Amino acid sequence: MQISLANQVALITGASSGIGHAAAKALAAAGAAVVINYNSKAEPAEELARQIIADGGQALAIGADVSQEDQVQRLFAQTVDAFGSLDILVANSGLQKDAAAVDMTLDDWNTVIGVNLTGQFLCAREALRIFQRQGVREGVSRAAGKIIHMSSVHQRIPWAGHVNYAASKGGVDQLMQTLAQEVSHQRIRINGIAPGAIRTAINSEATQGDAEQKLLELIPYGRIGDVEDVANAVVFLASDLSDYIVGTTLFIDGGMSLYPEFRGNG
Ligand code: BGC
Repeated sequence: MQISLANQVALITGASSGIGHAAAKALAAAGAAVVINYNSKAEPAEELARQIIADGGQALAIGADVSQEDQVQRLFAQTVDAFGSLDILVANSGLQKDAAAVDMTLDDWNTVIGVNLTGQFLCAREALRIFQRQGVREGVSRAAGKIIHMSSVHQRIPWAGHVNYAASKGGVDQLMQTLAQEVSHQRIRINGIAPGAIRTAINSEATQGDAEQKLLELIPYGRIGDVEDVANAVVFLASDLSDYIVGTTLFIDGGMSLYPEFRGNG
């Protein structure tokens, strides 16, 4: 089945690499005009915009730190200035700063919560303001707007040595569900995606060599995920094919959240 997002505008945060980069590419391939947000790495975001435009699409790279309110407001204002509307937000920016809890600095706690959780709130808030103003655009989509919150299996699975990250993703789950409860009656559709181990820069150490073999023990399906595994689901959740899916998290993890260590045990 062909999914068309023609005449829709999508903003993807943290899209200079990894899952965000692949999501921007996939949304553009489905026909959306895409805003490729980056924080520090302009070049890969601009390169992706050039590629999309060369392929006949519409794209623009915009720098902004999603944990900063003024930068988020500028990012959304520039998006609407450039493309006239906003239909899809993929709140994807995220980072890890790992340490045992006793060694974790307040800075590392605040940075991770700031980007992964506060950043998703700030972006969702701006998107909601635009969606509410805009309403349902007839002939474009059945919804007035769609938000996809990028979470993690660690919204459910506790993760020793990563308390800031796990707490941020647990927060993303409640952020997503609470916003969905709050605004669904306005035909705004909010869902989450919880990826497991997807091969990106965030986990490059864990997905190579001996560490990869150890990691695979946690994945019943027997492979590390690819960014496209997640990007395909982003396109689906952004499209009217998922129009009745509201306030749900889609786990894309090769079965990691099935607690495979309990097979034959417990
Ligand atoms: C983390 C990765 C990790 C995966 C599975 C993700 O949310 O960002 O570093 O490999 O969860 O534990």
